[in-house]
Amino acid sequence: MLSSTCTAAVRGLSTTAQLSKINNVTVIGAGLMGSGIAQVSANAKLNVVVVDSNQSALDKAQKGIESSLQRVAKKKHADDAKAQTALVSSVLDRIKMSTNVSDSVKDADLVIEAIVENIDIKRKLFAEVEAAAKPTTLITTNTSSLRLADIGLNLKDKTRFGGLHFFNPVPMMKLLEVVRHNDTSDDTFQKLMEYGKAVGKTTVACKDTPGFIVNRLLVPYMFEALRLYERGDASMPDIDVAMKLGAGYPMGPFELSDYVGLDTCKFIMDGWHKQYPDEVAFKPSPLLDSLVDAGKTGRKSGEGFYKYK
Ligand code: CAA
Ligand code: NAD
Repeated sequence: MLSSTCTAAVRGLSTTAQLSKINNVTVIGAGLMGSGIAQVSANAKLNVVVVDSNQSALDKAQKGIESSLQRVAKKKHADDAKAQTALVSSVLDRIKMSTNVSDSVKDADLVIEAIVENIDIKRKLFAEVEAAAKPTTLITTNTSSLRLADIGLNLKDKTRFGGLHFFNPVPMMKLLEVVRHNDTSDDTFQKLMEYGKAVGKTTVACKDTPGFIVNRLLVPYMFEALRLYERGDASMPDIDVAMKLGAGYPMGPFELSDYVGLDTCKFIMDGWHKQYPDEVAFKPSPLLDSLVDAGKTGRKSGEGFYKYK
């Protein structure tokens, strides 16, 4: 069932020509998010192409998707090794990898961008996507923090543009924020909601506001934890334990920041700080900056606030 905000949003705008059904999905960016989005899309029997400018990212994504699928398969078919293998290979068979954006979006019904959180790089990519894709292709971003109106500024047809904000780790997190900006058509929005349900997520609708719902609340919380630590009020492990046992969070704020990626946390906060310099909740953290400068971006690099094997 649609939420009341979503129902109102759907009712509020005019409809455009019907867009085609989603069968082919192209995911651009094969990092933490792109690989998870590819996995859940292929698991929903959609044909998926994953694109990355970096071949080693594609190789890593291939391995990551396979090991994630093995975990899923083990749970679903606990005592049936054959069924586990069949599940893993049937999903992997639906995923192709490529380094070429234009070729990979030609047949796409839906493009999901999950590259670095940088507005100029995203804008450049969207120009390339729009030029090569069909005139009916839905074009979306998985941005954590940027406004869709800013990312899609140069798109010629903004009615087919929207936000699909997934959560990390994508195969496990049940939520999908579906974001519409002023020009997103009703038809596009409906199709994005349908796609979200098809990949097994609970969808919530949100306007084009920085951080949407979750990150607008979660990211300032993560930075407030940093400030608490930087003031010397408590140690990192104690803050993490406190939030897990005292507030029931599955991870403490430092564990979570390492999980998200410290570079991504920094890109989010730097962008908001630039836009709202007087907002104290958006103040950058010197400790975070120094870790990112040193290449310590969290779990994905082997070290962030904590060290990982
Ligand atoms: N793929 C498949 N299964 C996975 C998985 C993955 N990537 N990660 C975890 N699992 C499953 C496995 O089934 C695992 O069981 P097995 O080890 O037996 O296979 C089970 O989850 C439990 O996992 P773990 O024992 O490794 O650890 P856990 O119990 O702590 O759960 C977690 C892991 C689901 C990540 C949990 O800690 C959690 O929910 N953490 C919070 C995550 C969160 O808040 N994400 C949002 C971040 S913000 C964001 O994404 C938005 C943004 O724009 C920045
Ligand atoms: P990541 O660093 O793990 O992966 C980004 C990938 O994009 C890299 O493999 C890189 O090679 C590739 N890339 C960069 N520029 C490219 C280009 N021009 N063309 C093709 N590939 C390119 O990042 P991530 O954590 O997966 O985040 C991706 C996006 O998703 C960001 O916008 C981020 O804000 C958002 N997001 C992140 C999280 C999270 O928890 N990490 C959660 C939700 C949304």
